[in-house]
Amino acid sequence: MNLTLKVWRQKNIQDKGQFVTYQAKDIADDMSFLEMLDIVNDDLTRKGEDPVYFDHDCREGICGMCSLVINGRPHGPEYGTTTCQLHMRSFHDGQTIVIEPWRAAAFPVLKDLAVDRTSFERIQQAGGYVNVNTGGVPDANAIAIPKRIADEAFESATCIGCGACVAACKNASAMLFVSAKISQFALVPQGQTERYERAQSMVDQMDAEGFGNCTNTGACEAECPVGIKMTNIARMNREYYTAKLFREEDVHN
Ligand code: SF4
Ligand code: FES
Repeated sequence: MNLTLKVWRQKNIQDKGQFVTYQAKDIADDMSFLEMLDIVNDDLTRKGEDPVYFDHDCREGICGMCSLVINGRPHGPEYGTTTCQLHMRSFHDGQTIVIEPWRAAAFPVLKDLAVDRTSFERIQQAGGYVNVNTGGVPDANAIAIPKRIADEAFESATCIGCGACVAACKNASAMLFVSAKISQFALVPQGQTERYERAQSMVDQMDAEGFGNCTNTGACEAECPVGIKMTNIARMNREYYTAKLFREEDVHN
């Protein structure tokens, strides 16, 4: 198939940026979206032009690096799919595809389609870990956890940190991401020792990075490629207010 691409080009963080139109020719249905961009970049390189800069790593849907807004939707038109797992059979011959970077003040554009997501790393560093020695991996039946709780913790832990939830949200809220990272520890025994301090520290860092607030539109859940649920946000709010209202002394002693 042949496609018209309107691609966001931006030289650096200071540049205003603009859309540039390219033609993608002889694209096969079974190519991934990133392979299609590879072909466009090969053409640009052959012509001596600067290739389109975009983030990617695993190309298997697990690392969270790929990050394109495709025709207005983070990771494109398919539900539960990262950009690297999106295939060109989701588009049709002659279609125009608009490709933009994540748009959020806390994710400044570095170049073209790549944004700076180190704000997520700073939130993780604020508390997204267990700071005590929890020993070796216990036998599965040594710590009795109801299966429903174990499943919820596992589902929260599948967040790949891509930032599509922020890009989808009209407020650029990072609450789905942060709540998943808090929930994966809040639900299991190993995460209890720093439970309330973790919630306070990570939420405070999230606010300091300039992410917006949640107004329950649900866009984050709809666009999350791994299906993280908004129930995590409700849990994060409970963790945060419990720490603020009832455990302040414990947290700071
Ligand atoms: S919650 Fe979903 S959309 Fe947000 S960073 Fe995690 S995987 Fe990506
Ligand atoms: S490149 Fe790793 S999730 Fe897409």
